[in-house]
Amino acid sequence: MDIIPFPAKIERQAGELNLTPETGILTDTANRWNADFLRGLLSAPSGFPLRVRTGDRAAKNVIRLRLEPGLERLGREGYRLEVRPDAIVIEAPGTAGVFYGIQTLRQLLPIEIEERRPVSGVDWRVPCVLIEDKPRFAWRGFMLDEGRHFQGKETVQLTLDLMTLQKLNVLHWHLTEDQGWRIEVKKYPKLTEVGSQRAGTSITLLGKQHDGIPHSGFYTQDEIREIVAYAAERHIRIVPEIEMPGHSLAALASYPELSCTGGPFKVATHFGIFPDIYCAGKETVFTFLQDVLDEILELFPSPYIHIGGDEAPKKRWKGCPDCQRRIREEGLKGEHALQVYFTNRIAAYLDSKGRHVMGWNEILQDGLVKGAVVQFWARGRERLLEAIRIEKRAVVMSTYLDAYLDHSYSLMPLSRSYRYEPVPAELGENDAGSILGLEFPLWSECVPNRARLDYQVYPRLTAMAETGWTPKDKKDFKDFRRRLEKLLGRLDRLGVCYAPLNEAEPPKVRQWFGIFTIPQPQTGTVE
Ligand code: ACM
Ligand code: ZN
Repeated sequence: MDIIPFPAKIERQAGELNLTPETGILTDTANRWNADFLRGLLSAPSGFPLRVRTGDRAAKNVIRLRLEPGLERLGREGYRLEVRPDAIVIEAPGTAGVFYGIQTLRQLLPIEIEERRPVSGVDWRVPCVLIEDKPRFAWRGFMLDEGRHFQGKETVQLTLDLMTLQKLNVLHWHLTEDQGWRIEVKKYPKLTEVGSQRAGTSITLLGKQHDGIPHSGFYTQDEIREIVAYAAERHIRIVPEIEMPGHSLAALASYPELSCTGGPFKVATHFGIFPDIYCAGKETVFTFLQDVLDEILELFPSPYIHIGGDEAPKKRWKGCPDCQRRIREEGLKGEHALQVYFTNRIAAYLDSKGRHVMGWNEILQDGLVKGAVVQFWARGRERLLEAIRIEKRAVVMSTYLDAYLDHSYSLMPLSRSYRYEPVPAELGENDAGSILGLEFPLWSECVPNRARLDYQVYPRLTAMAETGWTPKDKKDFKDFRRRLEKLLGRLDRLGVCYAPLNEAEPPKVRQWFGIFTIPQPQTGTVE
C-alpha cells in the first residue's frame, strides 16, 4: 500500500469498503474537530454529505473516530486504523493519533481525494487493512526562512497543509535576519517600519550587486495568532526563531543603539555573515530582547524558543568597550565565553517563563546551561557526541549536507536525503534518546516565490518525513520511490511545483557533472 510515511505495522486484509452517499462519520466529543476535518476532506471531491454524528453506538457504513485509553502503548501520536467491509475505525489514546489515522486513511483513498471540487467517475474504495502505527521521533520538523524572502500567510498555510499530509509536527519559523525582520513587535514598531524593508536583493548568492527592487513584508500579531492556531489544530507546533546575537542587521538598522558601534546600518541587500551583531555589553540590549521575547511568548505557546546563535563573528565585541567591560566583570575567558554568557542569560529569562532555549550548534560551548536544546547543522560532531554522552543534551539533527533544502539536487539528491540517519552511529541505545528528532531547513536566499520553494522542498521533505516516522528497519528507498509516485499525484492536485523525479535524483552517469549539466531554476546554495 502506497502510504508515506510507511506505517510501523500494517496487515492487508481481504475485501474493501466503499464510501457511499449514505456513509456517515461517528465520533466521540473529543474528536469532533477531527471529524469535521475528515468530512471537509472527503465531502468536497466525493459530493457525499458524510454527516457527522456524536455517539458511541455500533453502526454500519461509518467512519468511526474515538479515543481509546487502552492503546496507551502507541504514545501521544500513535493510532490504530481498521478498515473492514462494513466500517472504518480510527482509535488512539489522543486526538493527535486520531488525526494521523485520518491522514493514513486519506492515503488509502484514490488520489482524487485531494481535489477540492466534485470529481465524477471515481470509486471511493478503501482496501481492508489493519494498521497500528506510531512515530519513531517526537520532532519531525521543517524550517522556513522568511528573513531572506517573505512568503506570506497563504504559503505558510499551504506549508502546514502539506506537513499535515506527511505527519510532520514542527514548523521552525525563522522570522528575523540581516535581510529582514518579519514579525510585528508592538513595543518596537521600527523593527517592522524599518527592518522589514530592504532596497533590493542580491542577484547572486555571493556577490553584492542587487536588483534594486524593494522587498518587504511582515506578519502582524493577529496573523501570527491565526497561523499558530491553524497549526495547533493540525498538531503542528510552531517554534519561532528570533536570531541573536548574529544575523541581526535588520534589527540594528531599526535600533542602531543595540550594536557595539552605534551604526548607522541598512537592512542587508546581499547575503553572507555580517560583523555587526547585538552588543553583549549594554544592558539595554537585554532589556530590548526580553521585551521582544515577552511578545513572542504571548504569541507562541511552544515550549522551545529558538534564538539562532550561529555565525556570530566576534570582531565588534573585541573592539567594544562595553563588551570588554562585561568580559572583565564577569570573569569570562574571551568573546566565545561572552556568547555563552549571552545565551545563558536569555536561557535563564526563558526558563523563568517556563520555556526552553534552543539554538544552532555554535551555542554549544563550555558552560552552556543544561536545558539548552542544540540543533546540529555543521562542524563540531565530536563536541556534540560528548554533550550527548556526558550532559545528556537534547538535540535536533539537521546535518547540512543531508538536510539543507536550499542545496541543489545534484549536491543533495533525494536518495541522500532519504538515507539520512539522524542518530549518530557512535551513540549507544541509552544515548540515542537524546536525539529528539530531525528537521530539514530551507534557507531562502534563492527562494523568491512559492514555485521555487516547492521545487527545493519536495520531494526531499517527504523523504525526511519517512525517516522521522517509520521504524528504521522498515525503510527502503526503492519502495519509497514507488510509493512516492502516488504521493506526487496528490501533490499535483494540491498545486505543488515539486522537483520531478528525474531532477530530484539526477541520473548516475551525470551526477559528477550534475551542477553544470542538469538544468536548475537557480543554483542551490551551500551555507
Ligand atoms: C546555519 O546554517 N547558519 C544554521
Ligand atoms: Zn559591544
